[in-house]
Amino acid sequence: MNYIGSKTKLIPFLKETIKGIVGEDLSQKSLCDLFAGSGVVGRAFKDEVDFIISNDIEYYSYVLNYNALLGKTIHHACDYIETLNELKPLEGLIYQHYCEGSGCGRVYFSDLNGQKIDALRQAIESYKEDKNLYYFLLASLLKSADKVANTASVYSSFLKTLKPLACKEMVLEGLDFEPDEKSHQVFCEDANTLISKIKGDILYLDPPYNHRQYGANYHLLNTIAFYDVFEPQGKTGVRNYISSPYCKRGSAFSALEALIREAQFHYIFLSYNDEGLISQSDIAQIMRRYGRYEAQSIPHQRFKAYDNKQCKNFTREYLHILEKF
Ligand SMILES: C[S@@+](CC[C@H](N)C(=O)[O-])C[C@H]1O[C@@H](n2cnc3c(N)ncnc32)[C@H](O)[C@@H]1O
Repeated sequence: MNYIGSKTKLIPFLKETIKGIVGEDLSQKSLCDLFAGSGVVGRAFKDEVDFIISNDIEYYSYVLNYNALLGKTIHHACDYIETLNELKPLEGLIYQHYCEGSGCGRVYFSDLNGQKIDALRQAIESYKEDKNLYYFLLASLLKSADKVANTASVYSSFLKTLKPLACKEMVLEGLDFEPDEKSHQVFCEDANTLISKIKGDILYLDPPYNHRQYGANYHLLNTIAFYDVFEPQGKTGVRNYISSPYCKRGSAFSALEALIREAQFHYIFLSYNDEGLISQSDIAQIMRRYGRYEAQSIPHQRFKAYDNKQCKNFTREYLHILEKF
């Protein structure tokens, strides 16, 4: 998944910097990934720390992180996947609102893939009682559907005609994950609400930097995950989404200030780039109030939904570090 703000390429930098401050051995420490998104940071640290606390306000992210961190071995996983792949396509919510053949005017998936997503999603609902299996199948469906979506990258718009990848028939692939016996925790809450209910050692913060609301950019993943009845809005069929204070100039600073103030963690690491809504000096000003502050940085390739030659390709990615007293 091409996720806005993904830290996949920054994992070595994050590991090196965090270990440089906290120490090489993290085995007795908990790490909270409070804006987990795709979950790549939690997954990268899960073998090294005592346990991970993962959170994101978006439900599709919760599904992915639940499976990646809390998922246990699924016996006969291949049989479930095979059975689902053999289902007859049917005309449901996704076909009706997001495929051209229904006359809705949207081309997010080929007609066949929309109908396959509907058939699989409805069948997966019957496993709801078995959370382990349910989130494994749902996470697998989200990833498989995302691969054949007819978008440039995110779901804020669709392409007018089907791109070659979107013409391919979707095949459900079971997600690879590594079960363990650790006591990870996974939440789907507003970060500023959750922060007063949790405590631990290392808090990793990766809030949105700019105006792009994740609920709007990934609305179809939420729709597949929720599969509920709602009124799709406008040309893109977006559902009502949660508006994050971190995506607005007027509220980002105060949201971050409150988060840092309430955090009951000894070490706080905040990823932010040099083009974000909150200035570097404002971040430094907030953090200095609560303990020892420093920052480290690295050049980082910009997220691109499409190839825009006008944009410079690299930004500077900062890791703001606070040792809270
Ligand atoms: C920059 S992305 C995180 C990317 C992630 N580290 C990764 O590598 O995939 C920011 C995330 O914050 C989430 N988010 C935005 N506002 C939030 C809030 N108020 N509480 C919790 N999560 C929020 C978004 O849904 C998004 O997944």
